[in-house]
Amino acid sequence: MVQTQPDYSGPVEIAKDIYWVGNRNEKDFESNAYLRVFKGNGKQFNLLIDPGPSPDFNAIANKIEQVLGADYQLDLVYLNHQDPDVCINTVYFQRHFPKLQIVTSEDTWRLVRYYGLKEKQFIATENFKTGRIKVKTGHQLRLIPTPYAHFRGACALFDEEQKVLFTGDLFGGLSETADLYAEKDYWTGMKTFHEIYMPTNLALQKAVADFRQQASDMQIIASQHGKIIRRELMEYFMSKLEKLPVGLDLKSESRLVVENHIKAFNDILDRIEKDITPEIIPKVLQSFKSDGSFPNTFVIKNSRIYSLKASIKDSFKIFATELCHIVNSEQKPQVKHIVIDCLGDWNI
Ligand SMILES: [Fe+2]
Ligand SMILES: [Fe+2]
Repeated sequence: MVQTQPDYSGPVEIAKDIYWVGNRNEKDFESNAYLRVFKGNGKQFNLLIDPGPSPDFNAIANKIEQVLGADYQLDLVYLNHQDPDVCINTVYFQRHFPKLQIVTSEDTWRLVRYYGLKEKQFIATENFKTGRIKVKTGHQLRLIPTPYAHFRGACALFDEEQKVLFTGDLFGGLSETADLYAEKDYWTGMKTFHEIYMPTNLALQKAVADFRQQASDMQIIASQHGKIIRRELMEYFMSKLEKLPVGLDLKSESRLVVENHIKAFNDILDRIEKDITPEIIPKVLQSFKSDGSFPNTFVIKNSRIYSLKASIKDSFKIFATELCHIVNSEQKPQVKHIVIDCLGDWNI
């Protein structure tokens, strides 16, 4: 069933008192930030999870203000791991809220302190001996370490009341649309992101097994990139992720086979230029360029493909998809003929 998508120009309440306050740039690779408002025992406690990269600061600050009003206070920041796209806005929020505390793992702190965060206001996840953070409102957050997914000190956070699991980069992915909630087709972008950024499948297996065990009743997976996963699709994504070979698991492909593909791609471009029209080529090459939020799949030199930065299978898919988008319906049969010819020539 296709889910309705909320308006992401403002904050989105993804569960009671939990708000997505991220930014959408309509880029391939989007970041998310979340605000948790705890209310109870006559008190309020505001927690910001993974405050995001600096270009998103204005959007995030605006959205928080829309939820809490102009006179708000932030009490705590939680950092999943050390990367600047997760953490850097903590520095700016701490300037406005001098008492703002930070909870993260000791491994993460050893690195994030160099951003200029205040040592006295750091609390290590390891200090919570029960594995749970108890908030003054009476709520509890469970800490679920996810070592080497992708950093050794990465730690997910589970909101025990609202059953929302904040996973950092795990379950993050590239997005084809700016929509907030994942559909099954999000897997393509999630797969690519994990293949590149996660070191080994063992880390994914452990993380997913621990989530199944320690957060078995979770309703939402809220990652730091891409789309939010609702209960209905959770098992779909978890079962795919725990089996996915990533990083070091991916066998490097034979040099000659890679070269055959590069030669075939370039022959296709040469033949299109010569037999159909040269106008297509710059458009195709331009379409391979990432918007800067993620690595390029192809390295281009002198208007031809020089090397591949992704697997042969993924590169082939991107090459074919972009070519298909760019040629018009009249050119398509001729292009198809050229593609089949060139692939045959290179034994593909
Ligand atoms: Fe990261
Ligand atoms: Fe990230």
